[in-house]
Amino acid sequence: MKKIIVTGGAGFIGSNFVHYVVKHHPEVQVTVLDKLTYAGNRANLAGLPEEQVKLVVGDIADAKLVNELVQETDAVVHYAAESHNDNSLKDPFPFVQTNIIGTYTLIEACRKNDVRYHHVSTDEVYGDLPLREDLPGHGEGEGEKFTDQTPYNPSSPYSSTKAGSDLLVKAWVRSFNLQATISNCSNNYGPYQHIEKFIPRQITNVLSGIRPKLYGDGKNVRDWIHTNDHSSAVWAILTKGKIGETYLIGADGEEDNKSVMELILELMDQPNDAYDHVNDRPGHDLRYAIDSTKLRQELDWKPEFTNFRDGLADTIRWYKDNRDWWEAEKQAVEANYAKNGQ
Ligand SMILES: NC(=O)c1ccc[n+]([C@@H]2O[C@H](COP(=O)([O-])OP(=O)(O)OC[C@H]3O[C@@H](n4cnc5c(N)ncnc54)[C@H](O)[C@@H]3O)[C@@H](O)[C@H]2O)c1
Repeated sequence: MKKIIVTGGAGFIGSNFVHYVVKHHPEVQVTVLDKLTYAGNRANLAGLPEEQVKLVVGDIADAKLVNELVQETDAVVHYAAESHNDNSLKDPFPFVQTNIIGTYTLIEACRKNDVRYHHVSTDEVYGDLPLREDLPGHGEGEGEKFTDQTPYNPSSPYSSTKAGSDLLVKAWVRSFNLQATISNCSNNYGPYQHIEKFIPRQITNVLSGIRPKLYGDGKNVRDWIHTNDHSSAVWAILTKGKIGETYLIGADGEEDNKSVMELILELMDQPNDAYDHVNDRPGHDLRYAIDSTKLRQELDWKPEFTNFRDGLADTIRWYKDNRDWWEAEKQAVEANYAKNGQ
């Protein structure tokens, strides 16, 4: 695999993947296709070698552009999406347009040009699980974590459009023999994450002298994975995965939101109750948990960043050291949340 297209490569997880490829696979040419929406940022690719990484600013739903680019590549790794649940509740249309029509445009181009395609998706397509305390096996029994056999049951416009895009890919594999794999990953954290998202929002609140904000009672559980581990998993699937298969990516990082908030405050030398409870997200999923046995056993992958405390401390340091990257947007992001009492 000598040439790849990374869609959404100027966003959070896509840009971390591009950094990963540059570091570990200098022989691979990367074309980033990104529309540079509010969530995309050229600065995420700053410092990468120009002879290895090229940015094309464009829309994944632009069939002509996509076709031209796909003809020149060995593989497409598809990260581009509208990705924020709260935004999808206010205006679902861009989610339908980018996540569904955009994915359709890419897989059609890959099908016509016989190009390998990897589809990056989320565990949110499976809906949510009960809290461990409410389960007889306390979360370790059959059906108490997501596997690739779990039925789809998405809750929000965001997760339903991601689910729709996964189903398109599955159908294109079966009907047209599209050379595709799918991955569904749990919640990512790390550098370059937009400050609208939970962890960077709280970190940048503390750095801006604003009290952090917790949705509801904070009992909701997310299964955290460092974005570098997501990148190594996607690379393993792209290069060793079996066509037509779905792999779940997770690092056994379950934490409830209240604990994450308290850990951020502790690591930033704040009292552990120095935050406000705000309106919960409507339809807020209770718990996500990934069983990544298939990926670990079949593709010999394992996560490296398994100490959440250390990973979070590194992430806090990144936001402290890169104020220029986020500071200009902070006021507008908080004003947007304030409109909903959040
Ligand atoms: N954030 C998570 O925790 C998480 C977890 C699992 C899976 N995912 C998936 O990973 C992918 C990346 O998520 P993220 O958090 O980095 O998102 P992000 O919002 O930070 O980045 C999305 C990128 O896609 C670009 N984009 C949006 N619409 C586009 C379009 N029509 N054409 C071209 N580019 C477009 C944006 O400019 C941006 O650079 C998404 O598919 C998401 O569903 C995210």
